[in-house]
Amino acid sequence: MDREPPKNSLDAYWMPFTAQRQFKGGPRNFVSAEGMYLTTADGRRVLDGVSSMWCCNAGHNRPRIVEAIRAQAGELDYGPSFQFGHPKAFELANRLVAMMPGGLKHVFYTNSGSESVETALKMALAYHRVRGEGSRTRLIGREKGYHGVNFGGMSVGGMVANRKMFGTLLTGVDHLRHSHGDPRNAFARGEPAFGVEFADDLERLVALHDASTIAAVIVEPVQGSAGVIVPPQGYLKRLREICDRHGILLIFDEVITGFGRLGTPFASQYFGVEPDLVTTAKGITNGTVPMGAVFAQTKIYEAFLQGPPNAIEFFHGYTYSGHPLACAAALGTLDTYEEEGLLTRAAELAPIWADALHGLRGPKVADVRNIGLMGAVEMAPGAEPGKRGFEAFLKLHEAGLLCRVTGDTLAFAPPLIAEHSHIDFLADTVGKVLKTLD
Ligand SMILES: Cc1ncc(COP(=O)(O)O)c(C=O)c1O
Repeated sequence: MDREPPKNSLDAYWMPFTAQRQFKGGPRNFVSAEGMYLTTADGRRVLDGVSSMWCCNAGHNRPRIVEAIRAQAGELDYGPSFQFGHPKAFELANRLVAMMPGGLKHVFYTNSGSESVETALKMALAYHRVRGEGSRTRLIGREKGYHGVNFGGMSVGGMVANRKMFGTLLTGVDHLRHSHGDPRNAFARGEPAFGVEFADDLERLVALHDASTIAAVIVEPVQGSAGVIVPPQGYLKRLREICDRHGILLIFDEVITGFGRLGTPFASQYFGVEPDLVTTAKGITNGTVPMGAVFAQTKIYEAFLQGPPNAIEFFHGYTYSGHPLACAAALGTLDTYEEEGLLTRAAELAPIWADALHGLRGPKVADVRNIGLMGAVEMAPGAEPGKRGFEAFLKLHEAGLLCRVTGDTLAFAPPLIAEHSHIDFLADTVGKVLKTLD
């Protein structure tokens, strides 16, 4: 039986990661954005305290990016991505790899962070196979990790709510213990002092499964979605050493940390650790056009270049890999980052940022964490876990500040164009809202 759908119903749109009933009882729509601010449907300005979803690193509506997209749409709107290319895809690839350390000199385009993760995991498996180590099929993630929502990323991910509804996921996956929760690390500024030995958990998994079965380890250098969990001092270096010892590839998921979040172009440079593969998205186009990119070491790229010259070397790709609009947006984004020195600006702001966040320490606050221009305020849970966090999130929105919330943790990562006054407003507003919570 045909049923006329209700006109302008809010129900037609099944929203991602959203409390549908709560939202639809009082929608929070944004209608425009400029610089550090978003504007709501009822005309209120909201300070973007988290670069929207950790992606608008240069702020909103930036002229070079908008113009690049506009011009590209009228020139080459789309072209096939398999067996054909277009000049901006190559120009962008060269600009991107120039920002990467060492041998990370090849880049594969995707459309999101989730797709970047799937791509990197497939590269790791296929890499071992093309060089005759096809027994290396296991993938290792980490508890509390977030690597997007597709099956590979969910499987290596370690946030239970994102996994438990979706069956048995990929087989042959294991997880490192997370490094969070040592009370001696509470309110640490930057990298906490305790917990480097959590990296040794990889040795436990090697002893259990044998190195000859393990293809790769994937970690976020800083765990973003779980609430800005900063790695203990020396942790990532030790993970690199253990991977090297056992021929295991190390993948950094830099979907959040890439493009200046820590005050260096990538977290890899911040921590002085060179991974084998790096996944990115978000900041690559300043959030304007969906795009992701996976960076690969030359040894990985070159291992695939075998067989007859007309044979496809890597059976993987997306209709929209290297989409012309995305490439144009990314070039406009890199120009903006460069012209305004944004990829290192977080380093200048970091001390002020740390002071502002740690100034919020108080009765309802269980922890404050910060690194570069990202940070989190973890509230002590109220009567029901997550309730206080969500209430704070809604109150902050009402008070003109956008943040992300995970359980009772509020996460912040303002655009890299932030001025001191924006950071002051952010901290003041959080402080005021904290006082109103039960
Ligand atoms: C570290 C990390 N990896 C992957 C993803 C997934 O990205 P997307 O939502 O673009 O698929 C995210 C998203 O927040 C992320 O933070």
